[in-house]
Amino acid sequence: MSAPVTVYVPADAGAVSLGADRVANAISAGARARGRKVDVVRNGSRGLYWLEPLVEVVTAAGRIAYGPVSAGEIPQLLDAGLLDGAPHTRRLGDIENLDWLKSQQRLTGVRLGIVNPASIDDYIAHGGYVGLSTALAMEPAGIVKVITESGLRGRGGAAFPTGIKWQTVHDQHAAQKYIACNADEGDSGTFSDRMLMEGDPFALIEGMTIAARAVGASRGYIYLRVEYPHAARALAKALTAARERGYLGADIRGSGFGFDISVRLGAGAYICGEETSMLESLEGRRGEVRVRPPLPAIKGLFGQPTVVNNVVTLATVPVVLAQGAQFYQDFGVGRSRGTIPLQLAGNVKRGGLIERAFGLTVNQLVYDYGGGSATGRPVRAVQIGGPLGAYLPESQFDTPLEYEALAAKNALLGHGGVVVFDDSVDMAQMARYALEFCAVESCGKCTPCRIGSTRGVELVDRILAASNGSRAADLVLLDELCDTMFNGSLCGLGGMTPFPVRSALKHFRNDFERKGDIPS
Ligand SMILES: Cc1cc2nc3c(=O)[nH]c(=O)nc-3n(C[C@H](O)[C@H](O)[C@H](O)COP(=O)(O)O)c2cc1C
Ligand code: SF4
Repeated sequence: MSAPVTVYVPADAGAVSLGADRVANAISAGARARGRKVDVVRNGSRGLYWLEPLVEVVTAAGRIAYGPVSAGEIPQLLDAGLLDGAPHTRRLGDIENLDWLKSQQRLTGVRLGIVNPASIDDYIAHGGYVGLSTALAMEPAGIVKVITESGLRGRGGAAFPTGIKWQTVHDQHAAQKYIACNADEGDSGTFSDRMLMEGDPFALIEGMTIAARAVGASRGYIYLRVEYPHAARALAKALTAARERGYLGADIRGSGFGFDISVRLGAGAYICGEETSMLESLEGRRGEVRVRPPLPAIKGLFGQPTVVNNVVTLATVPVVLAQGAQFYQDFGVGRSRGTIPLQLAGNVKRGGLIERAFGLTVNQLVYDYGGGSATGRPVRAVQIGGPLGAYLPESQFDTPLEYEALAAKNALLGHGGVVVFDDSVDMAQMARYALEFCAVESCGKCTPCRIGSTRGVELVDRILAASNGSRAADLVLLDELCDTMFNGSLCGLGGMTPFPVRSALKHFRNDFERKGDIPS
């Protein structure tokens, strides 16, 4: 009896939305009908979303990819020899040899799409838990030092040095400390947290465990965006497996160190991703921003010292511990060390996850990886860093994707989401949308954001309907309103909404001036 053929079909939410479940079922049923034995493994996505559902068949010549495939095509693909890696118009060849993937530098997402996310053995077979073993043999202060020396900065948006945050929590004297993972992932065009939790959940669990060991925490929470049910299921399975195998619990791998993690579903509001709102929500209250100081690192969850880190930040920790600070430092440019999983979305031909060392230019991302716009029209702008990120015009596409270079252009990298727009975009409407988003999502605690955002929407409407004379005065007023929101808001929601508005005003002024002109 021949051994079953292993076939990988992603269980990733993006792939499932494109029919991956139906494809997996069709392969199982079709193989059975043909007397072939298959082992269908539901992996995570590799991040080539334009090719999903992407099927990989394990052959002597490697993992042969086919994509995008539909369930309806499976009988014909099976007849053509899919299970033997045979030629077909959908055949892409050895997945490892696809340029789009081969040119990436996957450190955080090294196992994405490769492993079975439900199998702890697969995780360990692919280098998992080496970082934790290293950490368990070190003093907590030594672990913090490695993270500091690696140059790792938070990937949730603010890019704060992770080592400094951990050091602060490490230095607090408290009976109880917490690790709170921010998995709210509210930014438009971002999905790296989701992909990691669905495709390699043990990496996050391992990263949180190392963080706990470093700062002396015994409890961890993952604050998970409620719209991520697939990630919730993947995490639940992985947490159970980690407990069963002694990687979580009262005495982790016989070290005497105890730590466990619970998942809490988010409240469905953008502001709950802001760390202090997240803590309020975790404590069972309405997600509203806390006044700082005190910092969460000193007085965080339930008033105790708390590390709040993003999923990508924490999932990067194992590779830093396993390979060392210098290894990680060697990637990147300037003060942006390591790699960043960029998420390319919007009007683009080849959207997906591109993990590269910091420094790739927008041009390289949008054209080399993305292949330009999906509509085939000229690309006019990208928005980087979520709904509060600036719009960059094509003339600035030579900007490297790293924190300082973007800051110099009054832009930010945020969580690494890049959304592409073609030349049909109306940038005045995009500015209006940013203000409207802020008005809808404002927690209401401070006036510049709560009132300013609504006045801003009204102002843009007035500008677009106005005659040339009154428009000039309102454009000045809009700029002053941006000043007030930027300088007077309590948190980044109100404080950063001026970024998309001002960048649209600066680079795409014509869009504000061409409407409602009264013919002379
Ligand atoms: C309005 C707003 C929304 C935010 N949403 C998120 C989010 O969804 N996920 C996240 O990790 N960080 C988010 N942040 C950043 C967090 O406040 C915080 O900086 C981050 O979780 C810290 O983790 P890091 O140091 O690993 O980046 C948001 C910030 C603001 C102001
Ligand atoms: S800026 Fe907006 S979201 Fe932030 S505290 Fe003020 S009202 Fe709340």
